[in-house]
Amino acid sequence: MQPNMSPAKPRPADNNSHGLYGQDILSVKQFTPPVLDYIFSVSEEMRTLVERFGSADLLQGKIMTNLFYEPSTRTSSSFMAAMQRLGGQVIPINSVQYSSVSKGESLADTVRTLECYADVIVIRHYEAGAAAEAAHWASKPIINAGDGVGEHPTQALLDAYTIQRELGRIDDLTVGMLGDLRFGRTVHSLTRLLLNRNVTFRFISPRLLRMPEEIRDEVTEADGTFTEHEDLEEVIGEVDVLYVTRVQKERFTDLGDYEKVKGAYIISPETLTRARQEMVVMHPLPRVGEITYEVDNDPRAAYFRQMQNGLYIRMALLATVLGRA
Ligand code: CP
Repeated sequence: MQPNMSPAKPRPADNNSHGLYGQDILSVKQFTPPVLDYIFSVSEEMRTLVERFGSADLLQGKIMTNLFYEPSTRTSSSFMAAMQRLGGQVIPINSVQYSSVSKGESLADTVRTLECYADVIVIRHYEAGAAAEAAHWASKPIINAGDGVGEHPTQALLDAYTIQRELGRIDDLTVGMLGDLRFGRTVHSLTRLLLNRNVTFRFISPRLLRMPEEIRDEVTEADGTFTEHEDLEEVIGEVDVLYVTRVQKERFTDLGDYEKVKGAYIISPETLTRARQEMVVMHPLPRVGEITYEVDNDPRAAYFRQMQNGLYIRMALLATVLGRA
């Protein structure tokens, strides 16, 4: 697919204990518990900064490119807002059909072009592994904003941060993940991020959309516990977190299969009558009917707070990767 591969340029020397300065952010596997604590702590500072002052000049003189091969509202907008609130500038390629990608330019050439103009490139792509490939070619940091059915590491960071804020901890929890666990990169990343945290996973999905074997194996190898269910009723009363996902029509090669599983689960106020009072309902969004609007008024509905948290996490991440945190 790509021209002859050449070795990636060396990364800048890391001068911080978190190890993220000048680095690519490709997977949640990079976030050990101390690094996660560090990002949460900087995110809290960013929250205070935005609430008190709205903006700062921490990243003045820095430029970020948003390079999105797939649609996005939250991720693209929050990365742009994060950069701008820290005084940086943005090159917004939020729709690659209006770039030279539509003329056939390769990923390698695209990132090598954009790094001539920017200090960091945020990329969303429809192929798993594309962010890693971009990182291979680029000498500037690449941040994975979702690569096909692979990972969505910054989403997992904001998800974990939301759990921490809502429940006071990310350890010793029972986490239910519901819906499209096969194609849902957010649940792949969040599961990986919560390994070794004494989390019990309840994977709830139609058989067609089971959590991939690779992820299930990773839970087992980490001595974690998971069970699989098709019926939410089996676990609704015990979960601390109910993480709902959309069935992703765009990932199906056979739309007949999509028709079989779309609308498999719909969370309504009636569903939540059987849930714990101190649990939280999360969703990476967008939703297409799997949580009714009536649920929004339930204090357990955390998905709007969750997307707000994405701004602070991404401000923290940009400041850290660019060496200004
Ligand atoms: N959660 C998320 O990735 O949303 P967008 O697709 O709108 O960026």
